[in-house]
Formats: sequence, structure tokens, C-alpha cells
Amino acid sequence: MNTATLLDVHAVHKGFPKPDGSETVVLDGVELTLREGEIVGLLGRSGSGKSTLLRLIAGLSRPGAGEVTYMGRPVDGPPEGVAMVFQSFALFPWLTVLENVEIGLEALGVPRDERRQRSIEAIDLIGLDGFESAYPRELSGGMRQRVGFARALVVHPNILLMDEPFSALDVLTAETLRTDFLDLWSEGQLPIKGVILVTHNIEEAVLMCDRILIFGSNPGRILREIKVDLPQPRARLDPDFREMVESIYVEMTARRVQDHAARAERFPGTGIGSVLPRISTNLLSGLMEAVDAAPYNGEADLPVIAPALHLEIDDLFPVAETLQMFRFAELVGGDLRLSPEGRRFAKADTDERKTLFAKHLLTYVPLAAHIRRVLDERPSHRGPWTRFADELEDHMSPEDAARTLRAVISWSRYAEVFAYDDEAQTFSLENP
Ligand SMILES: Nc1ncnc2c1ncn2[C@@H]1O[C@H](COP(=O)(O)OP(=O)(O)OP(=O)(O)O)[C@@H](O)[C@H]1O
Ligand SMILES: [Mg+2]
Repeated sequence: MNTATLLDVHAVHKGFPKPDGSETVVLDGVELTLREGEIVGLLGRSGSGKSTLLRLIAGLSRPGAGEVTYMGRPVDGPPEGVAMVFQSFALFPWLTVLENVEIGLEALGVPRDERRQRSIEAIDLIGLDGFESAYPRELSGGMRQRVGFARALVVHPNILLMDEPFSALDVLTAETLRTDFLDLWSEGQLPIKGVILVTHNIEEAVLMCDRILIFGSNPGRILREIKVDLPQPRARLDPDFREMVESIYVEMTARRVQDHAARAERFPGTGIGSVLPRISTNLLSGLMEAVDAAPYNGEADLPVIAPALHLEIDDLFPVAETLQMFRFAELVGGDLRLSPEGRRFAKADTDERKTLFAKHLLTYVPLAAHIRRVLDERPSHRGPWTRFADELEDHMSPEDAARTLRAVISWSRYAEVFAYDDEAQTFSLENP
């Protein structure tokens, strides 16, 4: 083995038991290596299993299969030399900054004087000099997170695991802390040898990391590795930086489109077996309106338009994918391009919108057409929830079946394709 390898994750599988005895697979076939001197980024959607992977590396949980090796030894409990910084650091409100930092060393059995000495050093290093005796409530969010960093650094870990450590901070505070961290790292002032940074912020990954691992979901696995060989310090406005950010956006969007297509084809023949996302018609029309309007005029870059809609890119993807399923738009690279019907919808009044939406719902969402057909054929024009839920459960979990039915119900209510009575748990053709 390479002597400079700090950490090796090999063929790791992790699942959680479901009530019915089966397993939800969260991680599958995960491979990751961290070498000395590296900051490696894990970039992926919410729920893809990034925190689960960090917990395995930190020895806080065990993989179902595969192996995590730290400095050549299998991890079978929290290894000394691995420390973690979380999104929000749980500081003890009744302890001072100094005491909050010291606590990390107490568990290690470090003698009192050395504890104090090292804690003061860590506090100075991370820029909190003079705040040793302050209480957490007296600190800003950024300073509290600095205490979190100090608490992790004070143990002099070889590996620092960071789970979205900047995402709870405001933009400026986050940027200052990133820059301070990178300066200390570049100057070799940090007592650490390697870093794993979990983030869903592409710019942050490009700013900080030597390598970025793109993490896919369902199950979580590493799809691709990107080497970032831009020199440090990096400038966000540098054309090479922009190009790298843009290409990762495009890649992640393309992946999601492929995933979506694969999902749609998972139950060929039945036509109704796809799990549908619960995306409100408000969000769908909001996105169509925004993309239709100037300056986009029908085609917009998703990462550009996400902030304009006050959405995270992660939350915008499923909306865009749903528009694509309805053929109101097409995802091309990182761009969302409205179809002629999508542009018509954006400009239409309420009645015309409902008619257009109904037509697309019945044409492109087989489950909606199926329910409508069953209700049309029944003399009572009614059908119970269980009639359709049971049918879907042949193809998916009960939770997915319920979510899928809920999605179709909300779209059908809007388009007045069929009604659903929540109390009687019955579908009908009565006026919704
Ligand atoms: N103890 C557990 N029992 C059952 N399921 C779990 C458990 N821990 C995590 N999960 C599931 O595993 C999946 C991955 O969760 P995880 O927190 O690792 O994702 P993440 O990538 O860190 O997401 P985020 O970006 O939102 O932090 C989720 O679907 C979650 O519900
Ligand atoms: Mg997480």
C-alpha cells in the first residue's frame, strides 16, 4: 500500500432495515481514497448518503459489506486521529469557548495543563483569540462554527471530516471562514494531513478541493472523480474556475436526466409503475413563467435561474424533470428549454392552463390516464384509494405508492381530470 494513503474505503455497502424486513440500500460499492496533503470533496444531492459515508469513516457506524481502512488498519470503532466538523456545532451553552474546546481532549485522557495549552493554541489558530472565556450565546454564528473547528483541530487529527460546515452560515461569513481555513491549510499551520469535505455547493467544492467525487443517489455511489488542478488561492471569477463549475453543473444535470429516464423505464409494459415526484402545480407553473419571461425567453441555465426562484439547485432539478415528463420542457445539458406548449402555458389564462395541463397529464402520465379510464368504465364512476394503491404496490414500496398517488391526485385536482375525497378515501369523477 502507498505509505501516503490515509484512508481507504473499499466496496462499501450500507443499508438500513425496513419495517417489512427488507433493506433500504443507502450506499453501494463505494470506493474512496484519501492521501496525505489532499482535500477531497464529496458532492451530491440531499439524501444521497454523504453523511452516512462520513459516519462509517468516523467509525460511528459499520458497513454492511466492504471495508474502511484508516492508516492501514480496519476501522471498527471511532479511530483516534479522525475528527469531524458538522453543519451546526452543538456547543454546550453553559461552558465557555475554552471549556467547549477542551472537552474534546478530556475524552482522550490528556492531562489538564496540556489540555489548556493545546486548546488555547487551537482557539488562536482559528481566529478566536480573546474569546476564550465567552459563552456561545455571546458569539455570532460564524464564531460559533470557529469553536466547532477548534474543537475538532485540538485533538490534532490526521483526518478532518467536514459535513457541510459552511452551509448554515450567511454568505459572507461562510466565505471568510473558507478563506481562513484554506490559508491555514496552505501555510501548513493546521495539525491535519487530509480533509474530506461534504458539500452540495459546487463552487465551494471547486474553491477548496484537490479532487471532487460526484456522488450519485439511490443508492449512493461515486459516479466520477474530477481533479481540480487550478492553483491556490483560487478566484471565483477566473475563467478556468467558471468553466469547471459550469461543466460540473452540466454533468450533474445530465446524470439526473439519465437517472430519470432509467426510472421511467424500470417497469416497461405496465406504464403505471413509475414513482412520481410530488411537485406542486404552483412550482411547475412558476418555473415555466420564469423561463418564458425575459431575459430567458424560453431557455434558461438551471444554476442561473435557481437563485432567481429562491430555490437550491437540488430542489429545482425535480421540478425541471417533472416539466420534462409533461413535455412542457426539455433538459439539454444544464439548460431547461420550454417546448412550444410550455411557452403557451406560461402565457395562458387560468382556464386555458387547466385544459392544457389536463391534456398533457392524460397523455404523458400513464397512471393519471389509467385512473381516469377505470373511473370512466365503472357505473358508479368511483373507486377507493386501495384499488389503486394495491396495484401500485406490485411495483413499488407502500410509501412510494402513496407518494405517487398523492402526486397524481394534486395534478388531477388542478386540471379537473378526476376528484379525490380525502375523508371517504375515494376517487370519483365528481366536480373536484
Ligand atoms: N439510521 C438510519 N435509518 C434509516 N435510514 C437512514 C438512517 N440514516 C440515514 N438514512 C437514510 O439514508 C439516506 C441518506 O442519508 P444521509 O443523511 O447520509 O444523506 P446526505 O447525502 O448526507 O443528505 P443531506 O445532503 O440532506 O445531508 C436517506 O434516505 C436517509 O433517510
Ligand atoms: Mg448529510
